[in-house]
Amino acid sequence: MAGIYLDNAATTALDPEVFEAMKPFMLNHYGNPSSIHSHGREVRAAIEKSRRAVAELLNTSPSEIFFTSGGTEADNMALRCSIEQKGIKKVLTSKIEHHAVLHTLQHLEKTGQITLDYVPLDEKGMVEMDALKDWLSTNPDSLVSLMHGNNEIGNILDIEEVSWLCKQYGAIFHSDTVQTMAHYNHDLQEIKAQHIVGAAHKFHGPKGVGFLYINNEHKIQPFIHGGAQERNMRGGTENVYGIVGLAKAMEIAYRDMEEHQNHIQGLKDRMIQKLKAKVEGVAFNGLSADQDQSLYTVLNVCLPPSDMSDMLLFNLDIKGISASGGSACSSGSDVGSHVIAELGKAAERPNVRFSFCKYNTSKDIDSAVDAVAEIYNKQTVD
Ligand SMILES: Cc1ncc(COP(=O)(O)O)c(C=O)c1O
Repeated sequence: MAGIYLDNAATTALDPEVFEAMKPFMLNHYGNPSSIHSHGREVRAAIEKSRRAVAELLNTSPSEIFFTSGGTEADNMALRCSIEQKGIKKVLTSKIEHHAVLHTLQHLEKTGQITLDYVPLDEKGMVEMDALKDWLSTNPDSLVSLMHGNNEIGNILDIEEVSWLCKQYGAIFHSDTVQTMAHYNHDLQEIKAQHIVGAAHKFHGPKGVGFLYINNEHKIQPFIHGGAQERNMRGGTENVYGIVGLAKAMEIAYRDMEEHQNHIQGLKDRMIQKLKAKVEGVAFNGLSADQDQSLYTVLNVCLPPSDMSDMLLFNLDIKGISASGGSACSSGSDVGSHVIAELGKAAERPNVRFSFCKYNTSKDIDSAVDAVAEIYNKQTVD
């Protein structure tokens, strides 16, 4: 597909190396992993090998990794099973979580199962740690769900610190790590979370497969009932080639992490500098322009109001650039970004999220900046 793809927080291209690893399980090794004959056994072995690979990268035990259909299912499973089965009544989250978490918790609140509180955020969207501590100290036997890396503005939470705080106060800690998984190192001996999650399509693996880590000391019962797959924790014939692809993608990501991080950080930096030079009044949402406190893969740009505002993404698309939008919700409307709205950004300022990957080049960045500048009637190429 031609064009410049700068929407990698939405999904990433499949790595050809991952596809090669998946191919035999699409064409030749088609047995059902639950079958006891040789066709089944060879496929079962591939699933368990994948589980061991994921566990090793996260410095944990394979018995704590459960494959799912993706991040949304993993978040639902962790939250709903923990809350319902552990009798949790008080939950803390933030208003800028992904809907996989937010809508799940709001549903449980609506049906009267929990009281849901929101941790205060500062003006950049960072969690107020003192408020978190206060809440934990007055809400024993609770659950906290806070994401590691925000998919829209890129803010990074100190997941290790929050996990230790929750441990200290006896709260269950769930973190949606979909945007940081395989982009950062997660050492589960240091992160004291009961659950974290991953989705393969965010790190050059296939779509429709992910996993949930469940700490061994925090036993829960299944979310999806059915057969005995995933050690009785998730019924349904496994997405075998997806699981193989997930593990391969994760191995590649860890193998090349430093190189890719440096490359992508360079691209993000380039975009920040060029936008500042070419688009008067440009600003950046949340902490996304702060390389130390945000995902290196995400830059959320806040553009000055203009006649072209409404058409920005459309015009970028016409110029062959795929990025993603997100304006503040106007009240009563369900369109727009709940994250940007929460930061109190003026609705008339258009916001665009550019998100990067290992396949992007400096030329992609320059073309995107020139396109934005052109749309804004500013000077173009240097
Ligand atoms: C932070 C976050 N959580 C959860 C999800 C949902 O993951 P999936 O698309 O695999 O269900 C996404 C995907 O956009 C995400 O960015």
